[in-house]
Amino acid sequence: MRKHHFIGNAWCEASSGETLPIIDPSNGAEVGQIARGTAQDVDAAVAAARRAVGETFDGPWGVLSASERGRLLYRLAAAVQDRIEEFALLEAQDTGKSIKTARTDAIFLARYLEFYAGACDKLHGDTIPFQTGFTVMTIREPHGVTGHIIPWNYPIQIFGRTVGAALATGNACVVKPAEDASQSVLRLAELAAEVGFPAGVINVVTGYGHEAGACLTAHQGIDHISFTGSTATGRLIAQAAAERHCPVTLELGGKSPQIVFEDANLDEALPVIVTAIVQNAGQTCSAGSRLLVQRSIYEPVLQALAERFRALKAGPPHLGLDMGPLVNRKQYEQVKRILAKAEADGLQVMARGALHPEAASAGYYQEALLYRDVPHDNSLAQQEVFGPVLAAMPFESEEEAIALANGTDYGLVAGIWTQDGGRQMRVARKVRSGQVFINNYGAGGGVELPFGGMKSSGYGREKGFEGMLGFTVLKTIAIRHG
Ligand code: NAI
Ligand code: MG
Repeated sequence: MRKHHFIGNAWCEASSGETLPIIDPSNGAEVGQIARGTAQDVDAAVAAARRAVGETFDGPWGVLSASERGRLLYRLAAAVQDRIEEFALLEAQDTGKSIKTARTDAIFLARYLEFYAGACDKLHGDTIPFQTGFTVMTIREPHGVTGHIIPWNYPIQIFGRTVGAALATGNACVVKPAEDASQSVLRLAELAAEVGFPAGVINVVTGYGHEAGACLTAHQGIDHISFTGSTATGRLIAQAAAERHCPVTLELGGKSPQIVFEDANLDEALPVIVTAIVQNAGQTCSAGSRLLVQRSIYEPVLQALAERFRALKAGPPHLGLDMGPLVNRKQYEQVKRILAKAEADGLQVMARGALHPEAASAGYYQEALLYRDVPHDNSLAQQEVFGPVLAAMPFESEEEAIALANGTDYGLVAGIWTQDGGRQMRVARKVRSGQVFINNYGAGGGVELPFGGMKSSGYGREKGFEGMLGFTVLKTIAIRHG
């Protein structure tokens, strides 16, 4: 077990000498410690990153060509691919997620790194037609040192898509993983050093968000911040960054609707709708947590879904069930609070999944729940639960479906299920969300597909080629040559 940060390709003790416990959420047991990072540790990490990239891109990382960066990223991708089980086990222990989900996450991590490895030398600027006697070009430069605040729900996937894109564009990174899930990110930084990344390119400082995280976002030496997490923390980070005009990418929560029209292919839709809410025990920003069903098929759809919900099981990660526990006591208590309010509001649980007998009473397990007839303005239909809880409601018309879909503060993802081509496009164009899926949802992880929010779901885009742009600054150079 590690009690160290990873800075400048070396394990460094926390300057405070203090640690935080690593809790296994499947049984509540303490299984190790991580370092409790301070301002001093963040300073050291930012300095190491700056040395790597150089004040004027003259450091050992700054001078590498795009293709050389790509080769290093390929090596890291291959090293991860050779260690899927190692990363899956670390991730499952930290987060409690089912080992099946953790394996998928590790495979996607390798895919992100591979995608960004290949993309390094494909990103380029333009030449712009201008006045006679001039040549004008744009160059995409790295920001320099980028800060990455990573949550606990998908640590290695989010590392892959944000750190991968930042490295591909030539930045050096300081990463603050979540206090609940730091082990896999620490191991990744170590592995990057092993495959040949220069010292200081990837630095990891562990610790609390309000301590190490806040120091990172306020640090003068950080040139860009990418954050994935809660809307409340996202607001704090954007405020801190505004003090020094630091650009920010925010990937926040969602209350994403699945819209099922009466002509939908239900055999295809129903299993996807279930997976989209119970995957990672519902702790997914893009979880399909609202179900809008056209009135004429509302009853049969709910009956069929109820059957599927009753068959769902939560248990310890190693069993590879539908779900593991929730990540920690705080999340567990938050979900229980939301459910208590739903009960007090008289909402109806239509179906309930089960806990496996091996689910320890000390673990943070929550069975899957399907609620029916949830009023649109009830908090269960408006607020992110971050648990395996699906809120279903009927709609009459296409217009009403669109109004309900758009009727929350969020706008991350929407799923549309219909065979009618015109309706597919009309609804897709009218829903306010960063991604729209028609007759599918999540599109197999979507490494290549730009992802991000509208409204309170955040701004900026990650994933795909588009995800690289935010990690660059565009410089225009105008040459007058006569
Ligand atoms: P959080 O947003 O507070 O934590 C996410 C990351 O931000 C962690 O690394 C944390 O250490 C860091 N952080 C926290 N406060 C910070 C600060 N003041 N400055 C800099 N960094 C800071 O989320 P938390 O408390 O773990 O979960 C609360 C809720 O947030 C969940 O119930 C869920 O609704 C939402 N959430 C959404 C995620 C998403 O993927 N969009 C991921 C995790 C949580
Ligand atoms: Mg943990």
